[in-house]
Amino acid sequence: MEKLSVSWSSPSNIALVKYWGKIPHQIPCNPSVSFTLKNSLTIMDVEAEKTNAGEIQVDFFFEGKINEKFKSKIVKFLESERERFDWITNYKLTIKSENTFPHSSGIASSASSMSALCLSLLSLDEKITGVKTQTEDFYKEASDLSRRASGSAGRSVYPYLVSWGEIDSVVGSSNLFAAPVNKADIHPMFHDYCDSIMIVDAAEKSVSSRAGHSLMDSHPFRELRYKRAHENLEKLLSAMKEGKMEDFISIVEEDALMLHALMMTSTPSFILLKPMSLLLIEKIREYRRNTNIPVCFTIDAGPNIHLLYPKAHETAVKEWLAMEFKDLRIIHDETGPGPVKIKD
Ligand code: PMV
Repeated sequence: MEKLSVSWSSPSNIALVKYWGKIPHQIPCNPSVSFTLKNSLTIMDVEAEKTNAGEIQVDFFFEGKINEKFKSKIVKFLESERERFDWITNYKLTIKSENTFPHSSGIASSASSMSALCLSLLSLDEKITGVKTQTEDFYKEASDLSRRASGSAGRSVYPYLVSWGEIDSVVGSSNLFAAPVNKADIHPMFHDYCDSIMIVDAAEKSVSSRAGHSLMDSHPFRELRYKRAHENLEKLLSAMKEGKMEDFISIVEEDALMLHALMMTSTPSFILLKPMSLLLIEKIREYRRNTNIPVCFTIDAGPNIHLLYPKAHETAVKEWLAMEFKDLRIIHDETGPGPVKIKD
């Protein structure tokens, strides 16, 4: 029987202005922007064997072991994309996936894994249909598809700095797909950025991001949040263009704390930060005050703290981290070049 296979590696990303709240079909309530990471990757190998079974068939292996939970997520997604991939019921997919970062470490694995899956599906589609898409359109569709699989995954298909969602000042911006921010338009001080992830708690999140998004539907601060997120995004992009570090820091930290303030004030309320998260925030601000090294933090939907700083300060910051937080697990990452097709 005919067998085809492709492999992609795709990174996770860390949002600087957060996407929190959506309307049906994974349409975000506000635009977001993220750094694409370099070391936190999903490496996915997808094999398609022609069976003509007339139904979706998937075997899914995560780090060498069958994983039914991920499999059912993927099958559900493939069901929803049957029209796009009309060959999907004629082939059995064997998917082997691995992450270069530990599971539940505060690094968004759905962004890297779902983008790796969607890039692989589109590469398979090209092989099966024999229709090759122009590179730019390929990535645009990969972003749209990844967004439908898991919102923030739509940003992972592009390198470095990526926005997603309609932004007044960005012509052609869309809620349907992300777009890379041109590095040449960004001040060199933001070109190479480190993200050292300080692991406060590696346990699985107590509230899923799906549940968190839906609590925004009736949130009392909903309209204010979306207005502020739009403003934050515009201000952040101009601070990054003009090289305004203080503005960058204040917007990034505000947006992260706002995400958690929204969680704390939704009904029901939930708190993902731990006492240790707050302690780290204090320490980071203290270090910034004392040294003038422009470190700042952001936080995803979890207790772990992402310490962001220009690569020019890497040695000093890493020395401080090693000395001050001897017992803390820290995963070092930085901005990266986006997905890579490993095998075609
Ligand atoms: O893509 P989702 O549905 O897992 O939501 C991501 C939400 C945040 O990570 C908190 C923010 C973001 O923009 O990545």
